[in-house]
Amino acid sequence: MKLFMLLTFSFCLLYSQVIHGLKINDLDGPELVTLDKHTDNKTIDLDCDYELSESVPYLLVKWFMNNNLIYQWIRGKQPSVLPVLRDYIELRKISDDPDHEYSGLTLNNISIQLNGTYKCSVNAGHKYKSVEKEIHIVDLRQYEVEFHARKVQNETHLECIVNNIFPKPIINMVSNDPMAIILKDNPSTVLRENSYFNVTQTAVASNAESEESFDCFVSFESLPFNISAREVAAQLEAGTDAASMLVNPQFVVYVLFVISTLLMF
Ligand SMILES: *[C@@H]1O[C@H](CO)[C@@H](O)[C@H](O)[C@H]1NC(C)=O
Ligand SMILES: *[C@@H]1O[C@H](CO)[C@@H](O)[C@H](O)[C@H]1NC(C)=O
Ligand SMILES: *[C@@H]1O[C@H](CO)[C@@H](O)[C@H](O)[C@H]1NC(C)=O
Ligand SMILES: *[C@@H]1O[C@H](CO)[C@@H](O)[C@H](O)[C@H]1NC(C)=O
Ligand SMILES: *[C@@H]1O[C@H](CO)[C@@H](O)[C@H](O)[C@H]1NC(C)=O
Ligand SMILES: *[C@@H]1O[C@H](CO)[C@@H](O)[C@H](O)[C@H]1NC(C)=O
Repeated sequence: MKLFMLLTFSFCLLYSQVIHGLKINDLDGPELVTLDKHTDNKTIDLDCDYELSESVPYLLVKWFMNNNLIYQWIRGKQPSVLPVLRDYIELRKISDDPDHEYSGLTLNNISIQLNGTYKCSVNAGHKYKSVEKEIHIVDLRQYEVEFHARKVQNETHLECIVNNIFPKPIINMVSNDPMAIILKDNPSTVLRENSYFNVTQTAVASNAESEESFDCFVSFESLPFNISAREVAAQLEAGTDAASMLVNPQFVVYVLFVISTLLMF
């Protein structure tokens, strides 16, 4: 009896979701888009992956960004783009299937203005379903990183400056010496008018060996990659005059991009 009820229930569920009407599988698109110096006019394709299992009298697909309507398409009609993202949305037929013709969204002229949460909603007959996805844009096109290590007696004063970057960077400095203790200060963060960030992080390392090197890592909250700059602390004797201890200015900064373009949350 229980089994029978369970079966009936499962069947009803299946019937209501798949056999009868509308099902949304996913919002297909990238979770992370990285703009760097080699990026040339990228586009982002977003697809609302829905299935209609019967013919419906009416089909309306809407797209939202941060809950603002940006695009809508009624089956059989031309799609319309709302002013918010007019300069970014390219009208494109994505399928010959009349139920999907203009259901997708193509974004070009990618910039940090497109960072946000996207939602597609489908009204089919009297059924309604929607799905959301976060798209993170990281802009490294203009960013600068500067990293200094300066020995002052038995301490090393570290300063890592990251400018013109989006989103807000998290700066961590590490030493190649496992015995070194690094104490970070609070970062000084400037959110600029153009929405980019300038952040300076200082720290003090103690117990350092004389030939110690440091890395400055730049990462972003909940994003799976970092950028790093390395500084080899100058080989200075403890006890010399602090003023003469400024690290040699042609410090080695190598910036390695450890970027995986696909996120695996
Ligand atoms: C980017 O490419 C699209 C076509 O894919 C074009 O319409 C647009 O003008 C280009 N944007 C820039 C800034 O070149
Ligand atoms: C992208 O930018 C270019 C140049 O700024 C502009 O001509 C084009 O219309 C924009 N693309 C869209 C889809 O609006
Ligand atoms: C970028 O968009 C994501 C997804 O909506 C959001 O979590 C994040 O706070 C946004 N970043 C900034 C700096 O606004
Ligand atoms: C941020 O950094 C850039 C590049 O170093 C600099 O030109 C700009 O003045 C800085 N802005 C602020 C508000 O600190
Ligand atoms: C630096 O050296 C002095 C004298 O040797 C010592 O007292 C002090 O604790 C050291 N400081 C650190 C941070 O290791
Ligand atoms: C930076 O990325 C590398 C490679 O993905 C990883 O091994 C390392 O732990 C990361 N470092 C920091 C400080 O986030």
